[in-house]
Amino acid sequence: MFGTRFHYVDEVGSTNDLAMRAAERGEPEGSVFVAGAQTAGRGRLGRTWFSPAGAGLYVSTIVRRAALAPWLTLAGGVAVAEGIRASTGLPVEIKWPNDVVAVGSGGFRARRKLAGVLAEAVSDGRHMQHVVLGYGINLLTSAFPPELADRATSIESELGRPVDAGLVLAQTLVALNRAVTQIEMSGPAALLAKWLALAPSASAARIEWDGPGGATLSGVTAGLAADGALLARTPTGLERILSGEVRWV
Ligand code: BTN
Repeated sequence: MFGTRFHYVDEVGSTNDLAMRAAERGEPEGSVFVAGAQTAGRGRLGRTWFSPAGAGLYVSTIVRRAALAPWLTLAGGVAVAEGIRASTGLPVEIKWPNDVVAVGSGGFRARRKLAGVLAEAVSDGRHMQHVVLGYGINLLTSAFPPELADRATSIESELGRPVDAGLVLAQTLVALNRAVTQIEMSGPAALLAKWLALAPSASAARIEWDGPGGATLSGVTAGLAADGALLARTPTGLERILSGEVRWV
C-alpha cells in the first residue's frame, strides 16, 4: 500500500502540504511524497522542521481509512524507528508521542532526537476525509544551526558513516505497511506492545509536562492507555497525557 505511487520533488515548502493538496484532488491512499529539501518544513506544536537539501529524508503519505486515524501517530513512530533499525542497525528508541531518539551513553535526558512524525487530519466537520502522515529523518547534522545542534542528531553522526537514504526510506515504508496491516487484521494491541518495547522511557521514567494554565506537572511514566495516551503516576493519582510534550528530568 504505502509506496505503490511515488512522487519526488527537489524542493517544496512542506511535503505534508504537497500530499494534502494531492489528497484533495483524489490521490489514492498510500501515495508517497518525498522532497530533497523543504523551505517550510513543520513539526509538532507549531515548530519548524529544519530541512536542508541532502541532510534528511522528508516524506509524507496519505491515509484515507478513518479507523486507522487514531493510531497513525504511534504507527508512524514505530515505522520510523523500525525502518531506521532495519536499514542501519542503529538502536533508536521512541520518546512519547513520536520522537525518534538516539541512545547515547547517558540516561534518557541525554537522548538526542533524530526523527519526528507529524500526522495532520482533514475533516468535513463530521467525518474524517484523510490524514497526511509526514516524517522527517535527519541523515546528516553538519548543516544544523547551533541552537539545534545540542538537541538533535542524525543517523550518520551516530553511526560515523554514510547511509543509503533510499534503503532507510524503503524500510520505513515496509514497516509502515506492516504496522497498518496489523491494526487492520487484529486491532491496535500489537502496535501498542511494539511501541512500548521501542519506548523504554514510557515506563518508570521521571518526567515533567505542562498542565492546564501553564502549571508544570511531574510524575513517573506508567505505560500507555488503551487509546494511546501516556500514563504517569503522580502523588494525586494516575494522569493521562494526551497532547503536548514531556520532558525527562
Ligand atoms: C516533529 O517531530 O515535530 C515532527 C516533524 C515532522 C517533519 C516532517 S518532514 C516531512 C513532513 N513535512 C513537514 O512539513 N513535516 C513533516
